[in-house]
Amino acid sequence: MNVPLYEKIWMWAAGGMIAAFVAILLITSIGGALEPPSHVETIDPTQVFKDPRFAHPGVTVDEHGATVVAVGMMFAYVPAEIHVPAGKPVTFRLTSADVTHGFLIVGTNANTMLVPGYVSQFTTTFRQPGEYLIVCNEYCGLGHHLMSAKLIVEEAKP
Ligand code: CUA
Repeated sequence: MNVPLYEKIWMWAAGGMIAAFVAILLITSIGGALEPPSHVETIDPTQVFKDPRFAHPGVTVDEHGATVVAVGMMFAYVPAEIHVPAGKPVTFRLTSADVTHGFLIVGTNANTMLVPGYVSQFTTTFRQPGEYLIVCNEYCGLGHHLMSAKLIVEEAKP
């Protein structure tokens, strides 16, 4: 079979790219043990407020930063107002008591889904003291547009 030179070059280039893509997949998944970025922790969504991890939603502050425990449900967050210190790492531990909700802190990099049955966790630092709006950005029902809360980032006390 007579294959022109340019055709051959392109065939080898395409084959090389496919080999490279497969190699990248294998190296990162097996070698680097990379998984989808997630914190896999489960919870019974019907027992959220009886679960010791979420029985007392609120904020705890220690010398390392703050931990926020909050629950999303149709159509509110508990607690509705969250106070955290500025400039310190804040870890959010969140879940849903009914359907899938969103948790977006407007103007920051904090944005996650609250999926029933799972605990969403992330850590971020708020540099700028002030009042931030938390909104649900996953359509969750007729009151979706009413679902919001307030985040108050307070100047660190000396
Ligand atoms: Cu909760 Cu939309």
